[in-house]
Amino acid sequence: MSEIIQLHDKKFIKYIPSQEIDKAVSEVAEQLNRDYCSDPPLILVTLNGAIVFAADLLKQLQFSSVLSCIKLSSYKGTHATDTMKTLIGLNEDVSGKRVLIIEDIVDTGKTYQTLVDLLNEKGAKEIRIATLTLKPDAYNLDLPVHYVGIRIPNKFVVGRGLDYDGLGRNLNDIYQLVN
Ligand code: IMP
Repeated sequence: MSEIIQLHDKKFIKYIPSQEIDKAVSEVAEQLNRDYCSDPPLILVTLNGAIVFAADLLKQLQFSSVLSCIKLSSYKGTHATDTMKTLIGLNEDVSGKRVLIIEDIVDTGKTYQTLVDLLNEKGAKEIRIATLTLKPDAYNLDLPVHYVGIRIPNKFVVGRGLDYDGLGRNLNDIYQLVN
């Protein structure tokens, strides 16, 4: 795979090699195995982006968990919009349960905040998040981001589940937008 790729009208350059991402996933898995082995959470995967991270992560988890999915969307192209749409809702009873959200990326944290509000409303006992990537310079919430694979600058990226208008999710490395 070349260093520069084109998706729709934009060019992206290879930024984080797959080996580094695999290592970060394993480190997150180790932390989860340590923290959840005696009391496993319900795992809530955010579609579509987190499916790749979730699949890589789940294979390394040593506890049994119920898995559920939810689909929210606020992104259009390479920018967030103000409207958060629920495309697939929560269909699992979370009342009194520990919930672990699996995300591909935490950017401003708006999606995370929406999920936390929803889960609190449904009576979750504890809510934590594991994300493959975090943009600390864009994140502006007081909520802790409990498990982070890789911290990245505030630039648009694709690969490992992250897309630009539907493309790029299958890339094994992470690519950064070329301006
Ligand atoms: P937040 O709500 O601002 O934290 O954004 C979370 C969502 O925005 C993610 O689940 C992604 O769908 C999308 N997103 C944010 N930054 C990127 C990026 O760099 N590449 C691809 N999608 C992104």
